[in-house]
Parts: sequence; structure tokens; C-alpha cells
Amino acid sequence: MKRLRVGVIGAGLIGRRHIATLAASPDAELCGVADTLPRDEIAGLPPAVPAFTSHRALLDEAKPDAVVIATPNRLHVPMGVDCARAGVHMIVEKPVADTVADACVLVREAKKAGVVLLVGHHRRHHTQAQEARRIVGDGELGRVVGATMLWAARKPDAYFDAAWRRTAGGGPVLINLIHDVDMLRFLVGEIAGVQGRASRAIRGFEVEDTAAAVLSFANGALGTILVTDAAASPWTIEQGLGESPLFPYSGENGYRIVGTAGALEFPVLRVWRHRDPANGSWNQAIGPTPVKGFDRDPYFEQIRHFVAVVEGREAPLASGADAARTLAATLALKASSESGAPVDLARDHDAIAAASS
Ligand SMILES: NC(=O)c1ccc[n+]([C@@H]2O[C@H](COP(=O)([O-])OP(=O)(O)OC[C@H]3O[C@@H](n4cnc5c(N)ncnc54)[C@H](O)[C@@H]3O)[C@@H](O)[C@H]2O)c1
Repeated sequence: MKRLRVGVIGAGLIGRRHIATLAASPDAELCGVADTLPRDEIAGLPPAVPAFTSHRALLDEAKPDAVVIATPNRLHVPMGVDCARAGVHMIVEKPVADTVADACVLVREAKKAGVVLLVGHHRRHHTQAQEARRIVGDGELGRVVGATMLWAARKPDAYFDAAWRRTAGGGPVLINLIHDVDMLRFLVGEIAGVQGRASRAIRGFEVEDTAAAVLSFANGALGTILVTDAAASPWTIEQGLGESPLFPYSGENGYRIVGTAGALEFPVLRVWRHRDPANGSWNQAIGPTPVKGFDRDPYFEQIRHFVAVVEGREAPLASGADAARTLAATLALKASSESGAPVDLARDHDAIAAASS
């Protein structure tokens, strides 16, 4: 079968990762790159791949079957709408949009055009994430009671030299926690409500450096979150997965999911159960079983999956509507921390359902 011809829009930090993945992918062919940068400033671009200075030129001249959109957040929806109207399938980097209403616009346009819209929540493609979802889904923990997630890293001071990282939208909630909100939804289930609290006590910037939240899942489970970019710790999903040499492997778990018959640590998978889980209690010893996991490159897997979805062989693992719900829960944490009131997500979920029907 003819390989899917894929263009990349935005050749920055993550765009270059997609370029390298597509250039080496057995499943797709990199047919062009669009960036406002001159070609010789796009590191790692294979010589035979044409470069364009706008996404419209890429669409018109390279005529891709599909694109990866890896530009700044505010461009995701307008560029995605142009791609949908050109009949081009897409992976849009996270967050799918800045607002739930904008995410709904893109979901609606993709649906109308009949194109695939996936979102770059690439951690769903780690084998550990899929095995954890299977363990929970198969009931190995019994009924899920709750989950707790800690993400604590000390970002270097130079990271904050860029002014936008010190102002609204530049903090760890929208940059980092959105991945973990997505993972909690993937592992535990839909989030129905959020109560959040944010602090900027350590760094003193306009934006938060730390936030906490209580989550209500639709299945009745409760969850807690602590996220901070101002504390040194081995507990981030990046360090637990060893996904990138930029974040050295710690082998430690930031997630704990507990159920009536057992508990799961993630991402270094360990299941804790009593010898007789049906009759277990706190009076009996509980032991861990490590789960052997062979990880894979989630970006290659994301592209393989994208091609399979376009060809109708697989159902989307991270659709536009799914990512819109992740965005809604993440924005709700911010809104709740500002107002002091809990946020019920039912109205957002109805709007997303209407956009995707
Ligand atoms: N999945 C992940 O783990 C992950 C990691 C990092 C970033 N991201 C997301 O990817 C997106 C890009 O982030 P980044 O860190 O790579 O940013 P970046 O600033 O490094 O790269 C953005 C690129 O877009 C280009 N660009 C800007 N305007 C453009 C236009 N009109 N047309 C074409 N190109 C244009 C810029 O020149 C730049 O090369 C963001 O939405 C971010 O949230 C996701």
C-alpha cells in the first residue's frame, strides 16, 4: 500500500522530533515542512524534503495526505481548520486549543470534513501506560477507589528567561500537568469535577509554580494532584519513564492507583495485592508484583497508530474530542484555583459531545 505522505508544520523543539520520527518511519513518508524560519535554520531536515514558509504553501504545493501541527498553541485551531478544509488528516500537538470552545470548533470541522484528528498526548503510546490501563480495566485492582499523582521537578532558573513562561499559561498546570490529567483520564476514567488551588509562593512570578487539586471521577473514584516546577524530586512521569535523556531516569513512581482488591504504582509498574485478594484486609501482609515492561518510542508508535487510524484499521487512542476533555479538566483546575469554587465539567462535556456528533 502507498505510504501516507505527512508534512510537519512548526519545526521547533517538538516539531524536530516529529521530523526525525517521520524521516525514519516505515509507515509514512515526510513530504514537506513548514516554518517561518529559513530552511538552513531547521536542524535535522533531510536535504530531499522541501521546506515552505507557511502551512498554506505546504498544503498547496506538497499536497500532503496528513500533517503534524507543532506550532505555538494559539495557531493549532486556525491551522487545523485550514487542514481539515483541505481534506488533510492531522495530529495536533497538545493542548489541542487554548479554550474548550476553540477545541470544539476544530473537532466540528474535522468531523465535517471526514478527516482524522488526533492529539499529541504521546504518553498514551508507552507500553507501561497501555499495560496500566489494561490492569485497571480488567479489574485486577477490584473497583477503583482513588488515585494520587505527584509531579515535582525543579526547572532551571534559565528556563524562565523567556517572559511568556512567567505569565498566564506559562506555568506547570498548562505546560506539564495537562499530560498527567490526560494520563489520569486514560487510566482511571472520565473526570467529572475539579477543585483546585494554586500558589506562586516559591518563584514569585505572575504564573503559579505549584498547584494542587481534588478530582471527582465519573465512576465515583476520587483523585488528588500535586504539581510543582519549584521542588527537586525523582517523581515526575518523565523521570519514571526515562522517556528523554533530558530528564534522567529515576525509576520512581509518581502515580498510585488504589482499588478494593489491590493497588498499582505507575509508571514503573508494580501491583500490590494480598495473597487472597477477595478476602484481604490491613491485617494481612500485602506484597508487590513487578510487571515487566519493554518500552518503545512513543513518537514512532504514535505515527504508526495515526496511519492505522487513517486507513481505518484502528480506533483513535487520543482523538480531538478526548483531548478537548483533557483540556477542559486542566482549565477547570485553573478556574477553580482562581474562584475558590469547585468546577463541574458537565457543560463542557455536553459541548464536546455536540461538536463530535
Ligand atoms: N507532546 C509533547 O510532549 C510536547 C512537548 C513540547 C511541546 N509540545 C507542544 O508543541 C507545540 C510547539 O512547542 P515547541 O516547544 O516545539 O515550540 P517551539 O517554539 O520550539 O516551536 C514552534 C515552531 O513553530 C514555528 N512557527 C511559529 N509560527 C509559525 C507559523 N505561522 N507557521 C509555521 N511555523 C510557525 C516557530 O518558528 C517554531 O519553529 C506547543 O503546542 C507545545 O505545547 C508538546
